[in-house]
Amino acid sequence: MAVSIKSQREIELMRHAGKLLASVHEELAGIIAPGISTLEIDRLGERLIRSHGCIPSFLNYNGYPASVCVSVNEEVVHGIPCRERILREGDIVSLDAGLIYKGYHSDAARTHFVGEVRPEVRKLVEITKQSFFEGIKMARAGNHLFDISNAIDRFISQYGYGIVRDLTGHGIGTGLHEDPQIPNFRQIRRGMKLRPGMTLAIEPMINMGRADVEWLEDDWTVVAQDGLPSAHYENTILITEGEPEILTIL
Ligand code: MF3
Ligand code: CO
Repeated sequence: MAVSIKSQREIELMRHAGKLLASVHEELAGIIAPGISTLEIDRLGERLIRSHGCIPSFLNYNGYPASVCVSVNEEVVHGIPCRERILREGDIVSLDAGLIYKGYHSDAARTHFVGEVRPEVRKLVEITKQSFFEGIKMARAGNHLFDISNAIDRFISQYGYGIVRDLTGHGIGTGLHEDPQIPNFRQIRRGMKLRPGMTLAIEPMINMGRADVEWLEDDWTVVAQDGLPSAHYENTILITEGEPEILTIL
């Protein structure tokens, strides 16, 4: 497993890629409301990414047909935007987007509320986000990769939610998915040592019910088997000599 260590120049490019993606997410957050279609979100996302002179990295990735993955309620990730899929009051919607700036990738996901959402579903979304922050407390040079996984698992376990095991976080750089894979659940071993200059996409996917997922007929959309809601939160981060740097926030 070859994990790339980014040079100072590469880190600058990834910082820029991250900021641009954070601004795209911020704009997308502003249009989430009952009555809009998941396709409208994708269309705006693609337009914003291209307006920054970047390439939407998901479009045509292994044949994926859009720039933003839009996953509603029990859809975990990789939902395909669709003109007929209209957001309704009480839904939650996960937006996952990636872009390439001067050859360097950034990748981030947010789960939004559509209007007023049931408290227990709001809690799922908030705890999912918080689990990312629990995970990256461990994302420091000298710690080990799976310290992150174990911290996420330990935090989530208190709530009885299901941690999706079939998909993981990943290294990122000149490729969208680089080594290493970063599970969000407990690992027996501690994994590789973290070093400054590693860039990682950490992305807990958390189900309100059981962890089991299945794929829809479209071969993309991952859904919770029990039909209960699922949340996703992801940022691209940089391992430094000290605190990790979150690249995909403003
Ligand atoms: N953000 C996703 C990930 O981290 C990538 C989406 S896969 C695509 O794996 F095909 F939709 F691009
Ligand atoms: Co990712």
